[in-house]
Amino acid sequence: MDMQALNTLVEKCGEDHTATIALLQEIQAAEGYLPRKTLQRLSQRLKLPLSRVYGLATFYRSFSMTPTGRHRVCVCLGTACHVRGAPSVLGEVERQLGVGPGETTKDMQFTLESVNCVGACAMGPIVIVDGKYHGQMSPGKVKKCLKGQEKTQKGPKDEKAQVGR
Ligand code: FES
Repeated sequence: MDMQALNTLVEKCGEDHTATIALLQEIQAAEGYLPRKTLQRLSQRLKLPLSRVYGLATFYRSFSMTPTGRHRVCVCLGTACHVRGAPSVLGEVERQLGVGPGETTKDMQFTLESVNCVGACAMGPIVIVDGKYHGQMSPGKVKKCLKGQEKTQKGPKDEKAQVGR
């Protein structure tokens, strides 16, 4: 993200240090991750030590320091989902995508993550694809759950970019 685009975000979110997390969320939404160069620019723009910016960027799991796929697939491995078969659901997602949690497919279409409870235990096992909850998942439902995303040309990154136009 160049300085001009960053300045626009700062004007929107505010220059106050308390706006840093909101700014990181905006950058993540626009870029799909938090590029080092953009964090350096943000540090300069807010007159905030780079170590502080990095501290916030690495503290929250929702931020990524590496490029992520167009689609984010999140499998809940919390206790309620675990006892209902989440490990086998995760295993099938791994098999379908060919990557493990924390990894992104080579074509940059999918990033797989695992979490511990998303607050929808009664619906477990849960798989979240681009923010959409898929409950009562089983290994047999994984392919269908992912299939709708395969041919999608637009991911969250594109949608966010359009909002800014
Ligand atoms: S354990 Fe999966 S939603 Fe709570």
